Parts: sequence; C-alpha cells; structure tokens
Amino acid sequence: MIHANAAANCPETPTAAADLPCATCDAGNAPKQPNPRNPDMNCRDFRRALGSFATGITVITAKGRDGEPLGMTISSFNSVSLDPPLILWSLSLASPSLEAFRSASHYAVNVLSAEQEMLSNRFASRSGNRFADVATRPGLADVPLIEGCCAWFECTQHAHYAGGDHLIFVGYVEQFEQDANVAPLIFHGGNYRRLKKTETHQVHRTD
Ligand SMILES: Cc1cc2nc3c(=O)[nH]c(=O)nc-3n(C[C@H](O)[C@H](O)[C@H](O)COP(=O)(O)O)c2cc1C
Repeated sequence: MIHANAAANCPETPTAAADLPCATCDAGNAPKQPNPRNPDMNCRDFRRALGSFATGITVITAKGRDGEPLGMTISSFNSVSLDPPLILWSLSLASPSLEAFRSASHYAVNVLSAEQEMLSNRFASRSGNRFADVATRPGLADVPLIEGCCAWFECTQHAHYAGGDHLIFVGYVEQFEQDANVAPLIFHGGNYRRLKKTETHQVHRTD
C-alpha cells in the first residue's frame, strides 16, 4: 500500500494484510512534512481512507542480477495506457529489493486469485524463501510467472518517477495472459475479501 505523506519511519505492511502492524500510523502520527493547509492530517487516518479504495493484489516477479528470483506483494498496481500498453505500480524506497527491481530488464505482474491469499502473505514477509513450493513457469527473460493467477502482464521497464517515499514504476506490457475463470483476491480496508458471484451490474457509459 502507498503511504504518501506518511512518516519515513512508518513501516510497510510486512506480513498479513488483515493485521497491518504500523505502530506509527496506529499512534496517529503527523507526517514529517506536515501540510500547512491541513496540519491535523495524520498517517493513521490517511492510511485508513486510502484503504477504502478496493484493489486486487499482485505479486511482482523479476530476476535479480545473479539469477535469483525476486517477488513482492504489491497492491498499488494499476492500468495507465492502452496504446502504448502501459501499467504502473509503486515500491517503497525503504525496500531492500528496490535496486534489484529497478535494474531488472523485465518484470511480471501476477494478479493473485482468491485462492492465493497465502501467497500474498508469503511475498510480503521478510522471512523464509518466498518461492519455496510455489509453482512457476518461465516467462520473458526467464522471469518466474506464478501458476494459478487470474492474469499475467510481462513488462519491460518504461519509466520511473519519484513519488514521495515510493518509486513509481511504469511498465511496457510486452505480452499478457488472462484466465477469466479464476476469481481475483480483493484487498479492502486492510482485509482480504472475495467477490460474490451474484453482485455484478453492467457499467452504463454515456459517452
Ligand atoms: C496486501 C499488500 C499490499 C502491498 N502493497 C505494497 C505496495 O504497493 N508497495 C510496496 O512498496 N509495498 C507493498 N506491500 C508491502 C510489501 O509486500 C512488503 O513490504 C515487502 O514484501 C517486504 O519485502 P522487502 O523487505 O523486500 O521490501 C504490500 C503488502 C501487502 C500485504
């Protein structure tokens, strides 16, 4: 999750999304660079409000310089452009994996299925081998693609932008795949959720 304006010592969500252990936020600390127009703003409330925007969950995978697989749970993924085909996501500047992801020629966005909650926790954890017993297949540039996902977007690096305490990655989608029969894992209010099959309504556009 992005912590725009959050204090630099505000830790990322390290293990379970259902239990976001952020002592700094929970204490309601003010950002290190307070907004003079809104001096009452605090990390905890900002983070909670951001959590009302429901997202899917992805694991971004890449290959490190010495060939080791990299993988991290990321909910800041979004679409950017259809032509050219661009996507974005953001990574905390505090992540030890920042440089490895930034310098990788390719990366893949693995959109997690409702059955892959355990993988979301695993790839957000700082302990253990994240890829142990995870079924993968090789994608472009040998980047591991996680089996059982809803969709895969295989990207080359298009651009990087400064985004406060995160780095914004824009990826050029070289190829993608979707399994429309697989239900997505949803992240909302700091909890994992699933879609109810019956709750669908068509989008009506007037343009
Ligand atoms: C549901 C969920 C979504 C997350 N989204 C992001 C994100 O968009 N950006 C980010 O930098 N960290 C995000 N994280 C935290 C990282 O997954 C976690 O900090 C990271 O895996 C720790 O590994 P590192 O030590 O290599 O940084 C998320 C965690 C969870 C559980």
